Amino acid sequence: MTNLKLLEQEISDRLNQAADVKAVEEIKIAYLGRKGMIACLFQELKSLPSSEKPEAGKLLNALKIQAEELFQKKLTTIGSSEKLDSDFDETLPGAQYETGRLHPITLVIREITSIFTQLGFEIVDGREVETEFYNFTALNIPLDHPSRDSFDTFYLNQGCLLRSQTSTVQIREMQKRKPPLRILAPGRVYRPDAVDASHSFMFHQIEGLWVDDRATFSDLKGILHLFLRKLFGKDVQMRFRPHFFPFTEPSVEVDVKWKKGWLELLGAGQVDPAVFSAVGYDTKKVQGFAFGLGVERIAMLKYGVNDIRLFFENGLRFLKQF
Ligand code: DAH
Repeated sequence: MTNLKLLEQEISDRLNQAADVKAVEEIKIAYLGRKGMIACLFQELKSLPSSEKPEAGKLLNALKIQAEELFQKKLTTIGSSEKLDSDFDETLPGAQYETGRLHPITLVIREITSIFTQLGFEIVDGREVETEFYNFTALNIPLDHPSRDSFDTFYLNQGCLLRSQTSTVQIREMQKRKPPLRILAPGRVYRPDAVDASHSFMFHQIEGLWVDDRATFSDLKGILHLFLRKLFGKDVQMRFRPHFFPFTEPSVEVDVKWKKGWLELLGAGQVDPAVFSAVGYDTKKVQGFAFGLGVERIAMLKYGVNDIRLFFENGLRFLKQF
């Protein structure tokens, strides 16, 4: 019995001197391992007279449990002090992760599309690489029209081009489905313009198209007025100015009153029968109107941005404001 007490003391002393986990593990193996001191003592039990066995066994078991507890305690204290000793300084401020946000152009596109979806328009997607047929021919744009010139359109190989307008989506959607339809197509367009404060070789447009057996010019006016009121407030003033587009007849440019003058905001008109013919619609049975607007221009007005390049330079000081 005295020996066992001494043994317990010995374990405890050695543990007190152990400085790290490795040292503790070594001591643990020496005493509690399969061939350790305590296992040997259990072996020796067998040679005791049977009258002494039960009492000695009980004491030995108690020692084993006591030793296991000592090791466990030591490991826990070493574990937490090792953490404190490392380079980690929990008093320093945490790493700051900045939250992302939507680009102002995305914000404007979302605002506009949500107004039109409330009016029953379906949002559709088009292609940025197109053919002359979709960008010009089907839209009734004659072969000698200046917009077909390579100064005004980026031509790619094999009769392809980068679309210069989202009006292409009118053709793609009408080819796909039967009337009636009400679609809105936001997306990028490309033009080889010299870049300056108001021009970019890439910008965004939103195209709208409404086709039904009856979709009149006054419907167009009502829809656009409603849209502009939702976008700029109920006091917005709008005017229709006669214009020409090959794919609409009659065509207008739509201006809004801005500060002291009028500002051109979008093009629109009644779909030209030649466009319906190009997609195989019966010109006697359908009527429709279309419109196309430039997103950057509206974003510039809305947010008071005076240089279109700011939208595409990815400057965080600019983008963080939205
Ligand atoms: N596609 C024209 C442009 O890029 C804008 C436009 C004008 C679209 C009249 C239309 C429209 O749908 O009816 O300048």
